[in-house]
Amino acid sequence: MSKEESKKLFIQTLGCQMNDTDSQHIAAELKKYKDYDKTENIEDADLIIINTCSVREKPVQKLFSEIGQFNIKKKDGAKIGVCGCTASHLGNDIIKRAPYVDFVVGARNISKIKDVVDIKGAVEISIDNDESTYEFAPAKTNKYRASVNISIGCDKKCTYCIVPNTRGEEISIPPEMIVEQVKKAVDDGAVEVMLLGQNVNSYGRRFSDGRAKYSFTKLLQDVSKIENLQRIRFTSPHPLHMDDEFIEEFAKNPKISKCIHMPLQSGSTEILRAMKRGYTKEWFLNRAKKLRDLVPNLRITTDIIVAFPGETQKDFEDTLDVVNQVKFDQIFNFKYSPRPETEALKLEHLEIEDKIGSARLTELIELHKRYLEDHMPKLIGTTVTILVESLKPNSEISGYTDNYLQVFAKGSDELLGKFVDVKVTDVTRTALKGEIVK
Ligand code: 5AD
Ligand code: SF4
Repeated sequence: MSKEESKKLFIQTLGCQMNDTDSQHIAAELKKYKDYDKTENIEDADLIIINTCSVREKPVQKLFSEIGQFNIKKKDGAKIGVCGCTASHLGNDIIKRAPYVDFVVGARNISKIKDVVDIKGAVEISIDNDESTYEFAPAKTNKYRASVNISIGCDKKCTYCIVPNTRGEEISIPPEMIVEQVKKAVDDGAVEVMLLGQNVNSYGRRFSDGRAKYSFTKLLQDVSKIENLQRIRFTSPHPLHMDDEFIEEFAKNPKISKCIHMPLQSGSTEILRAMKRGYTKEWFLNRAKKLRDLVPNLRITTDIIVAFPGETQKDFEDTLDVVNQVKFDQIFNFKYSPRPETEALKLEHLEIEDKIGSARLTELIELHKRYLEDHMPKLIGTTVTILVESLKPNSEISGYTDNYLQVFAKGSDELLGKFVDVKVTDVTRTALKGEIVK
């Protein structure tokens, strides 16, 4: 098929970074096996895919309104596919509710995309599917950044979370495959890699070939040996598995980006127990302190759920206390959302009034806003090093510091992919502005 005739794929991604990578894999597989090129224009598409999230209720509602819109906008004969976690969870019900959907592919079945794309009514959502040794075509966020999965699924049973039901049991991808994939991305121009998994630091407990256990720390050491790779990032680690060995490697390995995601979920030991998170408030504070002590420039990001069933005012104050002590650099705040087939549904009788949940969410957001408004201006006048990743038409470059803060400055295209120093002249709550000094 000539270039002019190649089919067009429009893909929309909801949810987490694993979904972003899955979408990149879907696009790469459909390019390799079915000659689809991506388009940003839905009206041009021969195939429209929505890659869904089911972690909270809202994205699920959004799915049905979105695909309804797709069905109106699509050109004659164009197909619609639904992939991802909601596909895993609702399966054939999606086609029952929206019969114009052509196929459904679950979050653990992405490698099947090339097989189902031409089969009207296909539903591939097997939760036992093992894709841990499937060689996907490479996934890239941009020219300089690659995302590489290190495991599939999740073995935790956090009582609010639907993910173990949609992504299945945790299986680690063999370290040599991961290293090979990162090397390929680096050969292709990447300088930064993002290692991805639902629970990255429980890496290496189960491989599909039954080999001996491995550790995440060891994997970080393997990946950091790759020449010309400059920056390693990963998400999400679990606070429970942040042992001393891991923290020490994180601190001393110069290739590891000094920004860490530590999903707190709640600051109350009681609520953490009800969530089955496996750690206490004290453990979390102890790990955060050890990290801060060893890593001077560390930025810590987190996820917090307010109004989990049974959360008292005192429990919520424990969360505020941890926020005040740890001084998170970014917080992803969520109000608890009951999800099907999760253990927390049994706590329905303890559900918190929505009004109280909203008030707690606002209080948390305001507290953090005040912290950032006080903290960020302290960076004015300092010099930071960034990897330049993009250039806007107005000659504004943007890039990230080693501790993953976004920085904007005037610049030009020869800086793309290079590390440059920027003197900070202005800040917002979430980013820096400055002038290039070399
Ligand atoms: N309700 C609200 N937030 C949730 N998350 C996961 N499940 C739920 C739920 N049922 C949040 C957690 C997790 C993030 C990805 O989404 O904070 O870390
Ligand atoms: Fe969900 Fe917990 Fe697994 Fe994260 S670790 S995906 S919150 S079950």
